[in-house]
Parts: sequence; C-alpha cells; structure tokens
Amino acid sequence: MSRLTAVVLAAGLGTRMKSALPKVLHPIAGRPLLHYAVRAAFDAGVERAVVVTSGQQQIDELLARDFGDRVRTVVQDPPRGTGDAARVGVEQVETERVLILCGDTPLVRAEELSRLVSALEQPGAEQLSLMTCTLDSPHGYGRVLRDAAGRVSAVREQRDLTSPAEHAVREVNAGMYAGKTEVLRRALAQIQPNNAQGEYYLTDVIALVARSSQVTGVLGHSDALLGVNDRAQLAEAEELMLRRIRDRHAKNGVTVRGAPRIDDRVEIAEDAVIEATVVLRGQTRIGKGTVVDAGCVIEDSSIGDGVLLKPYTVVSSSNVGDGAQLGPFTHLRPKSEIEAEAHLGNFVETKNTRVGRGAKANHLAYLGDGDIGERANVGAGTIFCNYDGFNKHRTVIGADAFIGSDSQLVAPITIGRGAYVASGTTVVSDVPEDALALGRIKQENKLGYAPKLKARFAAIKAAAKKA
Ligand code: UD1
Ligand code: CA
Repeated sequence: MSRLTAVVLAAGLGTRMKSALPKVLHPIAGRPLLHYAVRAAFDAGVERAVVVTSGQQQIDELLARDFGDRVRTVVQDPPRGTGDAARVGVEQVETERVLILCGDTPLVRAEELSRLVSALEQPGAEQLSLMTCTLDSPHGYGRVLRDAAGRVSAVREQRDLTSPAEHAVREVNAGMYAGKTEVLRRALAQIQPNNAQGEYYLTDVIALVARSSQVTGVLGHSDALLGVNDRAQLAEAEELMLRRIRDRHAKNGVTVRGAPRIDDRVEIAEDAVIEATVVLRGQTRIGKGTVVDAGCVIEDSSIGDGVLLKPYTVVSSSNVGDGAQLGPFTHLRPKSEIEAEAHLGNFVETKNTRVGRGAKANHLAYLGDGDIGERANVGAGTIFCNYDGFNKHRTVIGADAFIGSDSQLVAPITIGRGAYVASGTTVVSDVPEDALALGRIKQENKLGYAPKLKARFAAIKAAAKKA
C-alpha cells in the first residue's frame, strides 16, 4: 500500500450541541469523538493526519496528547462548508493518496476505511472512492446517484434533491472518501457554492471526477455513518461504542454481566467478572480473576489480581493489591494504596493512606493521611483526626498494632509496632512499641439502680401524654 495521509474535517461549532465545548471534544466512553475518527484512520494504515479545525487550542492539545506529532491541525476560518474544509486540509498533504473523513463519526471501523482505500487498487478506479450505506430512511443524508450502468455519477444533498426518484434513493453518502491527492486538489479548486445552503460542498467533487473516470462506492456498515450533531445522537453513539467495548472484553475472557459502562481506556485481565451496574472510568486496570460487584465506580485506578470489590465500592486514583477485599460501601479517595490481602469494609473511607499487607479496617472509619502497618487491625468507628482546620497531619500505625473501636488518633501521631489502643481512647501522644494506650474515664456501677431509673422515665412519659 503506498503512502497515505488522512484529512479529518472537524471545523465549525456544532451549534446543535448547544455547548461551550467544541462538538468533536464531547466524550463518549471516556474519549472525545475526534479521537476515535483519527484512531480509525491510523489503524487503517495512514502515516499522518491533518485535522481541519476552527483553531481551538483544546483540540490541538488533545491530538498532541493522543497521537503526538503524527497529527497536525490546520485552521479553516470561516467554516464555509465541507468542500472548503477539505481544500484547506488537502493543501497540507504530501503523500500521493489521501483519506478524507469527518471528526464527528466515531463509529467508523479501521477495516471499513481500509476497504475504501483498497478500492483504489482496482484497475480503472484509481481516482476516487466513497463509502456508502443503504438506509431505510435516508432523509437528511446526501444521496448517491448512479447512471443507467450503475456507476456512481454524483452525490446530491437532501436540500438539493430535485425529483421524487432522487428522494427515493436509499443509498447515502457516509462522508468518507479515498482518492488521489492531485485529483482531489484539482476538483476541490473547481467547486462552487451553488446550492441551497450557499456552501462549498465536498460532495460536488464526485460528479466532477465521475465525468472522466470511475468513482467506486464501497458499502459500509450503517454504524459508520452515525454522525453526532446533537446530544441525542451523542447518547446513541455512546451506547454503540460501549457495546463494542463490552464485546471486546468478553472476547478476551472477561465475564461481562448485563451492561456495565466501561471506558475505552480501561484494561481488564482474564477471568475478571464485571457486574451489570458497574462504571469503570479513565485509565483503570482490573486484574485477573477480580470480581467487581454491582454498583462499583472505579476511576483512574489499578486493581490487582483476585481482588473482591463488593457492591458499591468507590475507588478514585488509587491502587489496590492482589487478593484485597473492599466493600460493600468502601470509599477510596485519591492516593490510597491498599496492599495485598488487606480488608476494608462498609463505610470505611481512605485518602492519601497506605493500608499495609493483610491489615484490616472492617467497619465505619475515616483513615486520611495515614500509614497503616502490615496486619494491623483498625476497629469500628476509628477516626484519623488529620486536619486541625489549617494543616493536614499524618497518622502512622506500626505493623500488628490493634486500634480499639471508636478511637480517635489525633495527628501527627505514631502508634508503635504491636501496640494496643483500648476502645474509645483519644490518642494525643505517641504510643511506644508493644505499649497499651488507655484513655477513658473510670466506670462506676450503681447496683440495683436501673429499675429506679426506668420507673422515673416512664412517669415522665405518662405525664407528657396526659398533658
Ligand atoms: C455531510 C455530507 C453528506 C453526507 C453526510 C454524512 C457534504 C456537503 N455533505 O453532510 O452528503 O451524507 O455528511 O454524515 O459534505 N466541517 C468543516 N468545515 C465546514 C463544515 C463542516 O470542517 O465548513 C466538518 C464538520 O466538523 C463535520 C464534517 O465536516 O465533522 C461534516 O459536516 P456536516 O455539516 O456535519 O455535514 P453533513 O450535513 O452531515
Ligand atoms: Ca454530520
């Protein structure tokens, strides 16, 4: 295959999105629309891509981040139609052949683009090919017109259709083209804005080229065509993309139950189980055999092998080691490092905290800015008092320490290895290794006093009822 450049049309505002964000930057499955179109082009074998924009810096940044210097942008100002955009883009192309596609059609597959390019290899059809789809309701799309011999002769936009026969054509233009750069450059220089919208139509090059040579229509899947112009189409495109992503993981040996939302960047190893209502976002990795149960939301995090995430566990920007168990209702805020075999239970919140190998905090705790040693046990209701209203401080707990229920550890504070903090203690000074810290007021038992107390309370209640 000879060298090839992609021109991706992404200028204009996308006013129907009603958004401050440029249309092609709206995300589906965690990536902007434009990413998918450009990626499909690279997967189809293009060397470089030229993206035509309205000069938004955010688009430049996205492309540089995702594709580096293989992509450059060029500004079309003002946006005067797809033909004008293509002309601006094709000017920058140095290869002999070019692939033109739109930034708002994220579902096109690389394989379809490859077929479009391969169509140029057929003898006599080297000039231009376009992708077409056959639709039951073609309304709104450019129709592919063919001559008596069945050869593509033109594409006519919806607003410019002239006869009932043209309206009845169900073969539509998907808006993707492959051709000889020189041929397209010449044709694009000739088109005029003589149409209902007063715009330069890229589709007018079809008739120009078809006059002197064969233009091949390559049938694509109807998904490929789905252009995103408003939020309803954005939702539709996302649904289709999410289904593809689920299928990809299922083929790779992941049990995907129902319809979890899995972003494009997420990696999942074999034998993992992802339940129906799970949301996996951003740069997330799920290890081998890990179970992510209903309602979990995991973002930008790495979860090891054989981990059990019980229902409604929320994990953000954190790491979880092999064999750990979290949830139900555990909340890991950013920079939590949960080491192998650790257990965190219901309503346990961590932030910027390491939980050492095999350590446990099974119920109701706030563990912020801490370091919990191996095998330590943190009892129900423990609070790391990490914030004094001005600064954050660290709590360090040594290996094998035991923190009794309902203790407050007022940071900065260090509990030594193997130390024991009695339930209900407010720890304000460091506890040495193997020491017992006990900080409660002495208990008094008044023998036989309970019935008297109850009688007094019952009388108060009865009096209140009468009144
Ligand atoms: C276009 C085709 C139509 C085809 C349909 C398939 C034309 C005239 N019509 O119509 O035949 O059926 O796609 O989806 O080409 N853009 C620019 N600069 C501009 C105008 C548009 O870069 O001045 C970009 C947009 O960002 C968009 C793409 O070109 O990504 C397509 O433009 P759009 O206005 O959506 O074309 P359609 O009306 O959908
Ligand atoms: Ca469109």
